[in-house]
Amino acid sequence: MRLSGDLDGSITFIDEKFEDIIMRIDTLQQAVKWQLCRYAIDKTIFFLEDYSAVHLRKEERHMRRYGYPLYLSHKERHDRFAAQMLDLREELLKIRSSGSGGSYELSVRTIQAAVDWLNEHVRQDDCKLADFLRNSRTGAAQES
Ligand SMILES: [Fe+2]
Repeated sequence: MRLSGDLDGSITFIDEKFEDIIMRIDTLQQAVKWQLCRYAIDKTIFFLEDYSAVHLRKEERHMRRYGYPLYLSHKERHDRFAAQMLDLREELLKIRSSGSGGSYELSVRTIQAAVDWLNEHVRQDDCKLADFLRNSRTGAAQES
């Protein structure tokens, strides 16, 4: 899976996270393939929760700062994704508390959620945001 569309690297903080998510998906897919997903699922879900708590809030700060006109709908999608990640975390805790190490189904659901997020949000909504930020303030949105 490669970056496509309008994320061309000039809005660094969005592009870097795109690549991070792809790497995490690849890692978890490999773990599923080798039946080791119970060892990898924690790190993946933790990463996606952290991404929700840190990166998505950073996007939202940029949207507010530059008066992004699609802020509310974009933020609503962020909130839904964050809630979805919380559900996955709770599901993982249930699996762990039942004494089961198996989390194949949860791993597949996590992979699907991340792939859907990339295709439905990052490649569409974030590309629009990157365009807006580029036009609003070329280069300034690259700050970390
Ligand atoms: Fe976003």
